[in-house]
Amino acid sequence: MKLIHESASCLLHLLLLAEVFVQSSCRPTSSFCLCGMFGSMIHHVDRLMNSKKLHELTDEELKNFVGVEPKLENLPRLRHTASYFTSLKVNESLSQMYEYTQAFRVHVDWLKTAKDNVSLPVQSAEGASTHLLHLSNLIKSYLHQIHEEIPPATPATLPAVPTAFDALKFSVEIAEQLHVFCNWSKRVLRSFQRQCTCSRH
Ligand SMILES: *[C@@H]1O[C@H](CO)[C@@H](O)[C@H](O)[C@H]1NC(C)=O
Ligand SMILES: *[C@@H]1O[C@H](CO)[C@@H](O)[C@H](O)[C@H]1NC(C)=O
Ligand SMILES: *[C@@H]1O[C@H](CO)[C@@H](O)[C@H](O)[C@H]1NC(C)=O
Repeated sequence: MKLIHESASCLLHLLLLAEVFVQSSCRPTSSFCLCGMFGSMIHHVDRLMNSKKLHELTDEELKNFVGVEPKLENLPRLRHTASYFTSLKVNESLSQMYEYTQAFRVHVDWLKTAKDNVSLPVQSAEGASTHLLHLSNLIKSYLHQIHEEIPPATPATLPAVPTAFDALKFSVEIAEQLHVFCNWSKRVLRSFQRQCTCSRH
């Protein structure tokens, strides 16, 4: 009942908008489902943020890894200034988010095998991999719908992982960057969601 009401008022809103912006590139028929997709993406980013830490270390144990030199050369390391967030474009930011998501997936899947090889638990890596996959599928489908090209996969160079200690070091490195990525993604997606015609209903 609530849903019917929401989509009805959303439709009305869109019809009004369509009248106002006759010349705009707005595609009212697809806007409703596109708006909802941001919510689904945020859901997976949240799950990724709140899921068990990739390294499964306590804060005390983690101190031993502070300042470890970065080793994974293809791991995305996001650096964005405040001004970046003031001029976001859906097509550009989502293409970029897709590329980051793919790169993290490659690293997390590699980490899973590496941990398995040295008999460390792999559940956290599996969980992260699942949410990254859902997120990348949602973004891909969004990009399709706005007729944006899907960025091609870029291969990553990944080192050997001889010991459990190495696997832990890499887990910490990936977990740190993944956290920054989640933070960035959430901020970007929230901003698109706010701009969405249907989000206030
Ligand atoms: C993204 O969309 C904007 C208009 O909203 C356009 O000016 C820009 O060229 C597009 N960028 C790419 C990379 O397609
Ligand atoms: C895991 O072990 C297999 C077999 O020894 C090896 O081929 C593979 O490269 C290892 N993977 C990682 C990520 O260490
Ligand atoms: C996450 O983003 C907020 C701003 O949105 C920032 O204040 C905070 O320091 C960030 N945290 C990390 C770990 O990047």
